[in-house]
Amino acid sequence: MLSRKDCLDLDRSDPLAARRDMFDLPEGVIYLDGNSLGALPRNIGPRLQAAVAGEWGRDLIRSWNTADWINLPRRVGARIAPLIGAAADEVLAADSTSVNLFKLAAGALKLRPGRRVILSEPGNFPTDLYILQGLRDFLGEVELRVVEAARIPQALDASVALLVLTHVHYKTGAVHDMAALTARAHEVGALALWDLSHSAGALPVDLRGAGADLAVGCGYKYLNGGPGAPAFLFVSQALQAQFRTPLSGWMGHAAPFAFSDEYQPAEGILRGLCGTPSVLGLTALEAALDVFDGVDMAELRAKSMRLSDLFLDLALERCPEFGRGSPRAAAQRGSQVALTHAQGYPIMQALIERGVIGDFRAPNVLRFGFTPLYLRYIDVWDAVDRLAAVMASGEWRQARFNEVSAVT
Ligand SMILES: Cc1ncc(COP(=O)(O)O)c(C=O)c1O
Repeated sequence: MLSRKDCLDLDRSDPLAARRDMFDLPEGVIYLDGNSLGALPRNIGPRLQAAVAGEWGRDLIRSWNTADWINLPRRVGARIAPLIGAAADEVLAADSTSVNLFKLAAGALKLRPGRRVILSEPGNFPTDLYILQGLRDFLGEVELRVVEAARIPQALDASVALLVLTHVHYKTGAVHDMAALTARAHEVGALALWDLSHSAGALPVDLRGAGADLAVGCGYKYLNGGPGAPAFLFVSQALQAQFRTPLSGWMGHAAPFAFSDEYQPAEGILRGLCGTPSVLGLTALEAALDVFDGVDMAELRAKSMRLSDLFLDLALERCPEFGRGSPRAAAQRGSQVALTHAQGYPIMQALIERGVIGDFRAPNVLRFGFTPLYLRYIDVWDAVDRLAAVMASGEWRQARFNEVSAVT
């Protein structure tokens, strides 16, 4: 087992150590929730101030052209593309993950006429299942089949139009084999849509290598775009010419400023747009992506696996009362770890009071995310030390830690 001194040594030789300075982290806080809301990159404040004062305040509506606001969805999409193994013209930053899921799932059904099944797994992130339920109820002719992960390969048959899975599970962190499942979906003539919310910026993703058709993901987790940041969507080049969005807004029109009465989809990925882009949100996300410039994602992954292994080893040794809610092998996890405990909620609140921020997912999961760009090995060691202190003191039993907030 590594000692605190070993952790300090690891930090000294960490090739990513300098990246921490690119973030504005509060003193004394160990932030293990970048899988939910990424920390604040230092350049965002000045960049937003310039956008507000100069582009909006001074240049006003001219900034759609002079500051190129109109191309932000495409420009930011092109910056996200290398992080997910896509070509620059396959990705857009726009809308929310939920809305993008609806657009792409509906578009996929149109591309597989005569098939009526959407396949997913129970326990997928709620919005994924809710959006698919809404689409099914709206269209009437669609069946949503929800099958345990291990049975998905067998459940893929000629009735399936679309497979929708989250690549890294939001609670357990378990990673699906994207290439194998996409290949199996293609074998039976189905399309595959991947939710990359817990993958983009957390581990290397290779959409093109996997032959993936469609993907979506959040901008506010490992991409650090800020609360409610715009999401992204991916449509493979092979599908773009046939793809149609059901939300056929004017920004996805071939010529928005021709103001014609008839919808005509734009060429390529731009047809995935709906309405006016969220300029300030996209500006923040664009600046946030600077922290990935020059980062070797294989190196990031190696550190992420070491951090999460270290956490799991130390936590299970020092606090045997916790169960393990994530795969044991780091290669089978994303960049997060789940511990289980019947009293997970008050324990997490007590831990947060000690300056270690993770989160709780009902019914019993304490979730910890490891962002290699700003976390140190010493942070992991100290976080477990504070968790052990919370358990040893029993302080989590205080009634105030059981007061449930709206957001857990
Ligand atoms: C897998 C997954 N998909 C989607 C979302 C959220 O989507 P939205 O940004 O539309 O709320 C989350 C949020 O945590 C998520 O974990």
